[in-house]
Amino acid sequence: MDDVAPALGSRTSPAGDPLTVLVVGGGGREHALAWKLAQSGRVARVLVAPGNAGTAREPGVENVAVGAENIEGLAALAHGRSVDLTVVGPEVPLVAGIADRFEAEGLRIFGPSAAAARVEGSKAFTKAFLASHGIPTARYAEFTVADKAAARVRQQGTPVVIKADGLAAGKGVVVAQSEPEALAAVDEMLSGRAFGDAGRRIVIEEFLVGEEASFICVVGGGRAVPLASSQDHKAAGEGDTGPNTGGMGAYSPAPVVDAAVHERIMREIIRPAVEGLAAAGIPYTGFLYAGLMIDAGGAPRVIELNCRLGDPEAQPILLRLRSDLIGLIEAALDGSLAGVRPEWDDRAALGVVMAAAGYPGSCDKGHPVTGLDDDVPHTKVFHAGTSADGNRVVTSGGRVLCVCGLGDDVGAAQCRAFERVGTIGWNGAWHRRDIGHRAIARERGRRRH
Ligand code: AMP
Ligand code: GLY
Repeated sequence: MDDVAPALGSRTSPAGDPLTVLVVGGGGREHALAWKLAQSGRVARVLVAPGNAGTAREPGVENVAVGAENIEGLAALAHGRSVDLTVVGPEVPLVAGIADRFEAEGLRIFGPSAAAARVEGSKAFTKAFLASHGIPTARYAEFTVADKAAARVRQQGTPVVIKADGLAAGKGVVVAQSEPEALAAVDEMLSGRAFGDAGRRIVIEEFLVGEEASFICVVGGGRAVPLASSQDHKAAGEGDTGPNTGGMGAYSPAPVVDAAVHERIMREIIRPAVEGLAAAGIPYTGFLYAGLMIDAGGAPRVIELNCRLGDPEAQPILLRLRSDLIGLIEAALDGSLAGVRPEWDDRAALGVVMAAAGYPGSCDKGHPVTGLDDDVPHTKVFHAGTSADGNRVVTSGGRVLCVCGLGDDVGAAQCRAFERVGTIGWNGAWHRRDIGHRAIARERGRRRH
């Protein structure tokens, strides 16, 4: 394995019987979760359903061929293998009620109920919730009828943001620069052509200006403990241009979230959201992700809430986490998060997504990946769309790998990550060459002053 585990150190001393942990999902976020959980001195075995070629190779980790959306099969697996704790990566099983089902069967699980996962499952629900609790977000209106939506677009002017209400794999948002583009998006969504039923209700939003950051917390018992800040790059093209993707790279920490902004995010967004959900009879347990726009004055506003860790944000965040993740999760489940402060590697971490030809559209699969066995210090390769073909690793999805580096600042972490990217390849591999550009510009500005 690459030389990062010693730097991250800190295995906790065992307390109680060793645990069997199940991670649900098969992407880069789940590889990072499984890798981190397997480092805990309290964990005997990590099962990943369905996992990928990277989790299959990870010491202490075992793939099980059950799909992440097969709640029935996952519950049977948890019973059959005496799983002590299940950690859910993706939003789809959460929105579909995996946590409710597991709890009803006496299985311990870390993730929100279906009611609480609506923060991600319905943009209309979230906008109404934020508005009624005075949590800052873009002004908006909700539509199911095309004529009324078109009138709103004309009245509001451009740029304007059109969002499908339901889940659309991170692709249900159009930031329209022109009126025809906005009207086309309205029509595509409301007709059901773009996202099926997920788009038959839409939200039309004011365009927010500023710098984005991802702010993810561990939540339980009415409290939230923030993880390190991060920033991802959602657009496919360099300079943050082109179509939206699941995310082309991410880094942690995000310099835009300084101590003052951090405090405002907790005070103005996270605490009122967690308390407001609990007061509405929807207590939240799990990772809570706030996608934020920070304006020039440091005021944060919510772009979106997600009911899970970000992907690829989880990869650099977990690479920096020194504390035992199991301890954090158990504190959330036991309602004892008060006073908990995770420890972080002081260094920055940056992950570059290596994608298959065609991504974010349809991609061909089955290309052998080379260069994975090299050992490059201070780097870690998390797999996403890979599968094992005998001894070979082959591509099996759009986002194939997230190649991470650690360094004294984001610039140094970027150098390490790109150095590692340069040693890996397959037919059609591509990546953005500017991951971290905003943070690196800030670092250069600081050095000049
Ligand atoms: P979402 O899936 O809601 O995070 O939206 C995807 C991306 O669209 C975000 O990361 C932003 O870059 C952009 N976006 C969404 N809503 C807004 C908004 N109200 N103003 C500006 N950009 C936005
Ligand atoms: N990287 C964005 C997300 O996970 O939603």
